[in-house]
Amino acid sequence: MKSYIFFVSKGGAAKTTLAVHFAWFLRKLERRVLFVDLDPQANAANILTRYAGKEAAYKPNTLGDMADIIDPDSPWTKGKRPVPSTGFDIVRVSTAAVLEDSDVDDAIAALDHISGISEPEPLYDNVVFDLAPTFSAHHAIALVWADNLVMPLDMSSSGIDGVDITDATVESFNKFRTTPLVDCGIVAARYDGNTTHKAVLEEAKMRHRDRMLSMPFHDREAFQRGIAQCIPPWQIPEQRDKRARTAELQTLFGDILERGGDGYEA
Ligand SMILES: Nc1ncnc2c1ncn2[C@@H]1O[C@H](COP(=O)(O)OP(=O)(O)OP(=O)(O)O)[C@@H](O)[C@H]1O
Ligand SMILES: [Mg+2]
Repeated sequence: MKSYIFFVSKGGAAKTTLAVHFAWFLRKLERRVLFVDLDPQANAANILTRYAGKEAAYKPNTLGDMADIIDPDSPWTKGKRPVPSTGFDIVRVSTAAVLEDSDVDDAIAALDHISGISEPEPLYDNVVFDLAPTFSAHHAIALVWADNLVMPLDMSSSGIDGVDITDATVESFNKFRTTPLVDCGIVAARYDGNTTHKAVLEEAKMRHRDRMLSMPFHDREAFQRGIAQCIPPWQIPEQRDKRARTAELQTLFGDILERGGDGYEA
């Protein structure tokens, strides 16, 4: 079982959009996916919960709110285990119940338990985290617990600073881990090839070389529509150039899985 965080210390860098598309892609590969939305805005959890289509592969099942899950009286802390659904299992955090630093250990224990990570057969094939841009206890949970990190690079001129800040944050959390968080690469996010984007991409390639994933996450109406309609872009009817969009995501996410040591053949 491998878990993935989509995170960079920069607002609006497409973290949520990428995390949701990646989760949809994993379901397309018929993997059992637990989605952990640690952003109190809970956009990702809401999108996955509102899935509008008919396919069982994408049907949501909310296991609960992290704050309830770590409650000593919750059925989860008393030993209840999820039966992974045929679609997504979702753990969310609500704005009403913001986690404190003192909750980090309990939240990590709850994730261990729910995912069955220390069992011979973990309950999920993948866990995907979405995080808010501003640092909080939620980030500590993911940065200590997860295996792999993908950093979306905001293509504005300050985007690269976000990578440096995130690197420093990851470094400071690596000392709480038995093995360092694996870097699965930096992805040019919402890339549309304009002059600023090209310049930022050039600088990012110079500074971060092999860390840059070769396929950008292009700025596409299809990805925005998928989010707006709460369905994977390959299920949107009458979409122009549908195959190209899917092929792009396959290349991008296939690279991420490969870097994450997560066996994937196209
Ligand atoms: N590939 C894309 N093509 C077109 N629009 C996109 C793409 N990715 C993201 N967007 C749009 O960019 C905006 C920001 O995206 P998103 O919410 O995913 O960023 P975020 O990093 O999660 O933001 P926050 O820091 O607030 O959590 C949204 O309006 C989203 O629809
Ligand atoms: Mg977000």
